[in-house]
Amino acid sequence: MSKRRHPHPPAPSPLSREKGERRPSPYLRERAAKGRVRVITQLGMPVLRQVSKRLSVPLTKAHERLIDDMLVTMKKARGVGIAAPQVGVGLRLFIVAPEPSSRYPRAPRMPPVAMMNPVLVKHSQKMVTDWEGCLSIPGLRGRVPRYQSVEVEFTARDGRRLRAEMTGFIARIFQHEFDHINGHVFIDRVQDTRTFVTEAEYRKLMHG
Ligand code: NI
Repeated sequence: MSKRRHPHPPAPSPLSREKGERRPSPYLRERAAKGRVRVITQLGMPVLRQVSKRLSVPLTKAHERLIDDMLVTMKKARGVGIAAPQVGVGLRLFIVAPEPSSRYPRAPRMPPVAMMNPVLVKHSQKMVTDWEGCLSIPGLRGRVPRYQSVEVEFTARDGRRLRAEMTGFIARIFQHEFDHINGHVFIDRVQDTRTFVTEAEYRKLMHG
């Protein structure tokens, strides 16, 4: 694989309802300071293999805290997404938060969004295969096919039901996290297990 870098322009907001509206943003902009780091569940823990349960809206205080904690836990681990089962909670909730980092140097940037009771409404026929890793499976990277674009629905933190179209890496994160709340992890989706590389080798591939 070549060492080419992809110049990534800032990703357009996939949350179409936000544009031109004066309603509160669904993005989690200033929440990070409020949360506490939780332990990230590791592959082998049953919660990662269970189908998570729906949340009721409006959120309880405990669920608000859960989102704050997931945000901080994800940021500390340099993740670009995190699902509730990854902090041991079997609820249909995850955060999508791409930004360039040492783990994903080519990621686009989007403010974090908490998505509750998400649904995959439509998807492209076309699939794209690219690298994934997972905070619950440290040290391993593999090449995973995902739909190139998806149309999704979810409940935002303020209780609104939003619809969004996502493509590329953001669509990939959605699909990865959506798998988590259904008890799947990325290694289940790797078609050729010979593509697995260690984190150290992956970094060499990305950074040269
Ligand atoms: Ni994961």
